Amino acid sequence: MRRVITYGTFDTLHYGHIRLLKRARELGDYLIVALSSDEFNEIKGKRARFSWEDRKEDLLGVRYVDQVIREDNWEQKVTDVAAHDVQVFTMGDDWAGKFDFLKPQCEVIYLPRTPDISSTMIRTRIDAN
Ligand code: CTP
Repeated sequence: MRRVITYGTFDTLHYGHIRLLKRARELGDYLIVALSSDEFNEIKGKRARFSWEDRKEDLLGVRYVDQVIREDNWEQKVTDVAAHDVQVFTMGDDWAGKFDFLKPQCEVIYLPRTPDISSTMIRTRIDAN
């Protein structure tokens, strides 16, 4: 079993997220999403439109996602990879190079980001109406 992990906020779930999750799942047999908690987003200066529980429910409705865990801090990646027996860590290439410190533990793969769509764009448009 090849286990894959990815991290993010996944607010206002959109096709950029779905494409990322599909390709992430294709890198192995089991996909874990570490979903940023509302408290961690606050630390990052980010405010999701939807709560952690709602964002988790959205993700579990996606056929490519097998499990959702909480992301509470920047440091937990090393322990998550070990605790969940992960072989592949993947993120969109807006994070290219940022998590190379995991390479002694697992494969690290940056996937091309889908252009012209983001949660920020959706939140801004909702707020404009
Ligand atoms: N992602 C992607 N293509 C997009 C948007 C996001 O591949 N158009 C990927 C990111 O690279 C990341 C994952 O989806 O690996 C979760 O990203 P997240 O930050 O939650 O989504 P964004 O839409 O970028 O959110 P925001 O605008 O709040 O930064």
